[in-house]
Amino acid sequence: MGNRAEEDYNFVFKVVLIGESGVGKTNLLSRFTRNEFSHDSRTTIGVEFSTRTVMLGTAAIKAQIWDTAGLERYRAITSAEGTRHFTLGILCNPPNTTGIRCYHESLFRYYRGAVGALLVFDLTKHQTYAVVERWLKELYDHAEATIVVMLVGNKSDLSQSREVPTEEARMFAENNGLLFLETSALDSTNVELAFETVLREIF
Ligand code: GTP
Repeated sequence: MGNRAEEDYNFVFKVVLIGESGVGKTNLLSRFTRNEFSHDSRTTIGVEFSTRTVMLGTAAIKAQIWDTAGLERYRAITSAEGTRHFTLGILCNPPNTTGIRCYHESLFRYYRGAVGALLVFDLTKHQTYAVVERWLKELYDHAEATIVVMLVGNKSDLSQSREVPTEEARMFAENNGLLFLETSALDSTNVELAFETVLREIF
């Protein structure tokens, strides 16, 4: 998979990162788009995206990767002016949209146009794997039915602390029609391959 000048591309593919807080979504993104890793990365607030343009055969694909906080996705703040609802750090529009409507509208906005998703868990924390089905439900409730989804077990460099057996996650992925890979944003294992496989499957 070669690189290409950012402004020169044939297709834009929006890919979203989802999963619990602390599983490594932001670092997978920074490893793929900038080849950077941070040991003390802070929890993501709101929504951010980064892009990288790659060659698949003769086509230049601009991958637009969206990252969001795994934590505190919904918040209502009450002040003198009344209650304002936020999802993913985005203020609802109009601001007086009621809580649950705001929540779903914001999620539809996040998933809108997404053709791929990486559903990430931390293979050293079983709790982050146990809730994968909940993330899948959110995804399928708000995204296009044709979205390509890869289950990603991150932090494979910490194999001595593994809490999720590879075969268990692989079987779950197979039974649910998901792609599957284990990655390490720290030592780069399979990070390129994970994004490349999803992009190829979309293409
Ligand atoms: P939220 O923004 O809170 O949703 O978290 P996140 O999923 O974006 O996780 P983030 O990338 O911020 O990483 C959380 C912590 O795990 C950081 O301390 C990272 O340095 C660490 N981390 C991320 N990926 C890896 C990895 O592959 N291996 C190891 N050992 N640590 C990792």
